Amino acid sequence: MDIMSFGRILEVAKEVKPDFAIIGPEDPIGGGLADELELIGIPSIAPQKSLAQIESSKGFTRDILKKYDIDASPIFRIFGSGELKELNTFIEQDLGGEFVVKYDGLKGGKGVKLSGEHLKSVDEGVQYAKECIEECGKVVIEEKLVGPEFSLISFVSGSQVVDTPAVQDHKRAYEGDTGPNTGGMGTYSDSNHSLPFLEESDIARAKEINRLIAEALQKECGEPYKGFLYGGFIATKRGVQLIEYNCRFGDPEALNILPLLSSDFVDICQAIINGELKEDLVAFEKKATVCKYITPESYPAAKDQIGEMVKFPVVPENARIFYGDVSEDENGELHLGGSRAAGIVGI
Ligand code: AMP
Ligand code: GLY
Repeated sequence: MDIMSFGRILEVAKEVKPDFAIIGPEDPIGGGLADELELIGIPSIAPQKSLAQIESSKGFTRDILKKYDIDASPIFRIFGSGELKELNTFIEQDLGGEFVVKYDGLKGGKGVKLSGEHLKSVDEGVQYAKECIEECGKVVIEEKLVGPEFSLISFVSGSQVVDTPAVQDHKRAYEGDTGPNTGGMGTYSDSNHSLPFLEESDIARAKEINRLIAEALQKECGEPYKGFLYGGFIATKRGVQLIEYNCRFGDPEALNILPLLSSDFVDICQAIINGELKEDLVAFEKKATVCKYITPESYPAAKDQIGEMVKFPVVPENARIFYGDVSEDENGELHLGGSRAAGIVGI
């Protein structure tokens, strides 16, 4: 079933009558599936469409941070079609030629382009910015930040926020981080639920930013955010800055976090829905985790191995395997779907 066929999803939901829904990917969340399910009496662990703009619009996120005085953004400006003439000056003079161009909508992780990596000159940046404006009316241009990145995902019910262990995602394909960006090749988390490169003040600040944004979203949209709030942060020399928000669990971050959860996940979901989320409902084991995805050799560039049969190793007791883009045939054999095939998590 196509995940954007809301009519079909609602039919199934009416048949199954679930107590609640968890919506995984960003496209149906951004498209307002939680709103539609609400109309037939099914609550979701996923925000309504207006709140989901925190992921579906990079400009919305930067504007919210600014409006609610949350000091976690790099220098940025949102450009529309009337302001094309000012693009060059902003990039060259205000940002000193090091910049990031962000498409103002969902693009499967491919909307962000960085100078020096994807954009070899200011002209290439300006050209890409113009393409973004043509496609979606707006583009965000911002300062290029330097530092290690990390993800901090929180359970949120309005202004009630409970954090999960911080995780670092490694997005580049191939050994030594030499390949193109992917959805995430692997991730790790540490036993103290912070990360080795973070000061205590860094992790505290990231948690504070998630709280501030949950409150700001409620004020801005007039309804409580209910779901997972995924902050993508970067620890720079001048402190923790926000790269982006996602309105869902991370992939693979969820594979690190959920196996450590020692309390009941359904209880947490119900508390989110009922506005009764508290710290003591959520406990994580003090263990470190590492996840590595197995992918087709040609991932993410080509899809030439689709359908190839694949066998996975038997994992030891302290590890878990989570299947991804594979399908099972009538003989129980597994076949590659072309994207990430399975995540193996060591605990
Ligand atoms: P996003 O789709 O927003 O997660 O961006 C994809 C990647 O682009 C991030 O994981 C960062 O590595 C990079 N990125 C985004 N914004 C910035 C920024 N302002 N400075 C440096 N890197 C960035
Ligand atoms: N691991 C990054 C993401 O889920 O967007």
